[in-house]
Amino acid sequence: MTSRHTTIFLLLSSSLIAVALAGNFYNDFDITWGDGRGKILNNGQLLTLNLDKTSGSGFQSKNEYLYGKIDMQLKLVPGNSAGTVTAYYLSSQGPTHDEIDFEFLGNLTGEPHTLHTNVFTQGKGNREMQFKLWFDPTKDFHTYSILWNPRHVIFMVDNVPIRDYKNLEAKGISFPKNQPMRIYSSLWNADDWATQGGLIKTDWSKAPFTASYRNFIANACVWSSGSSKCPPMQTSAAGDNWFNQELDSTSQERMRWVQKNYMIYNYCADAKRFPQGLPPECSLA
Ligand SMILES: *[C@@H]1O[C@H](CO)[C@@H](O)[C@H](O)[C@H]1NC(C)=O
Repeated sequence: MTSRHTTIFLLLSSSLIAVALAGNFYNDFDITWGDGRGKILNNGQLLTLNLDKTSGSGFQSKNEYLYGKIDMQLKLVPGNSAGTVTAYYLSSQGPTHDEIDFEFLGNLTGEPHTLHTNVFTQGKGNREMQFKLWFDPTKDFHTYSILWNPRHVIFMVDNVPIRDYKNLEAKGISFPKNQPMRIYSSLWNADDWATQGGLIKTDWSKAPFTASYRNFIANACVWSSGSSKCPPMQTSAAGDNWFNQELDSTSQERMRWVQKNYMIYNYCADAKRFPQGLPPECSLA
């Protein structure tokens, strides 16, 4: 092959790989509620959830996963989204379930959305950390990722880590590691608490409210008939090594920057809420 042909071949094959990796909403998700308010569009490349006075809507992944690096691009409800909540999370089933949460609390036009995060293990949560974002999440799509491997649950926004829940089982703190989880998302009305503590109600004259999703990529171990099948780990390519990934010093630095400048609530700093003492991971993490 001439070098020109080689280049064209490489371009073609890398775009094929990209297509194979970036999911198709028809293949990967089911709209589970909302009576037509959740829609898959553009041949499976776009998904929208809608909320009006009658109902919200939601979807869930067809697969269950046990560990993975899961990326999704979201564009949140624009304009006056006060009272609305867009939840995007991983969860297993049952009373002792594990759960890894992103929740976006709407706000008045021009006021910042709150990004709420939580980690449940063995049915227990109470590990909330909340952030503002350093951009307007309603203007464009941004990537929200969960890196979940045997040692860490790392929350990332546009590849910037904002939170690292570590495996501290050796110190007696539980970690999600044997219950497969599905991906869920929903858009719903929570104006009894979501915006400024429930003070600001949903303005239904602005309905329907819409959140949009695209570019879902799961580099993840898929659970099927009692065992988990992981994709081959190509340690050569950056990003494929998610199973062993930890935050390097640059990433830790960036996470500290976010937590210093954009974190608005940290359960580990809320001594009033835990009169018997802060949860044990707070002094270890
Ligand atoms: C909404 O905006 C107000 C004022 O800027 C801010 O105090 C609040 O944290 C924001 N978020 C929510 C969810 O209320």
